[in-house]
Amino acid sequence: MQGSIIFYKQIIKLFVLKGIMQNNFYTLEKLPYNYSDLEPFISKEQLTIHYEKHHSSYVNNANEILKKGQFGDSKKLSFNIGGHKLHSLFWKNMISPQKQKIPDEIIKILENEFSSFEKFKEEFLNLALLTEGSSWVALVFDKDIKKLLLMQIEKHNLNIYPEFNILLVLDLWEHAYYIDYKNEKKKFVEAFFNVINFEEVLKRYKKLA
Ligand SMILES: [Fe+2]
Repeated sequence: MQGSIIFYKQIIKLFVLKGIMQNNFYTLEKLPYNYSDLEPFISKEQLTIHYEKHHSSYVNNANEILKKGQFGDSKKLSFNIGGHKLHSLFWKNMISPQKQKIPDEIIKILENEFSSFEKFKEEFLNLALLTEGSSWVALVFDKDIKKLLLMQIEKHNLNIYPEFNILLVLDLWEHAYYIDYKNEKKKFVEAFFNVINFEEVLKRYKKLA
C-alpha cells in the first residue's frame, strides 16, 4: 500500500516536472508600455499595483492550482485563469494617450453596429456603470451572426458566452481605479476612452471578420 502511494506520488511529480520543463504554465507578460505611459488617465502607482500585485496573483494562483493538480477546484481555477486572460487582453487594449489613433475603419465598424461612434461610447459607458461589484465590460464579436455586442462579465469567469471573441475589455474591479478615482467609476470609464488602443481593437476584429 505504502509502495503504491509512493509510486503514484512519483508519477504526479513527473507530470508536474514535465509541465515545468515544457513551460505549460501561465506567465505574466510584459506590459506593452511603461508604468507612467497612461498618465494622466491612469497613474503610474495605480497601474503598477494593478499589474504587479493583482494580475500577477492570478497568474501565480492559477499555476499553483495546476501544479498541485487540484482540478476538482474548478471554480478557483476558472476564476484565476479568467483573471489572467482578461488582464492580458485589457493591457493590450490600452496605449499612451499621445499615441492614440482612431482608424476610420474602426469608426465605420462601430457606426454600423451602434449607429454612431458617440452612441457606442454612450452604450459602453452605461453598461459599465450598470455593473455591480467586481466586473468587466467587453465589446465582443460573434462570428456566427457577424455581430458586435456588449457583454458584462462578473468576477473573471461568470456570464461569459462561449466563443465570443473579446475586442475591447475594461476592468471595473475597484482595484483597477480606486487609487486614481476613488468611488467615481464614471470618471474612470470616461478616462479610459483616452487610452483605448483602437488599432488593437481593429486588429482583433480583422482576424475574425
Ligand atoms: Fe484587475
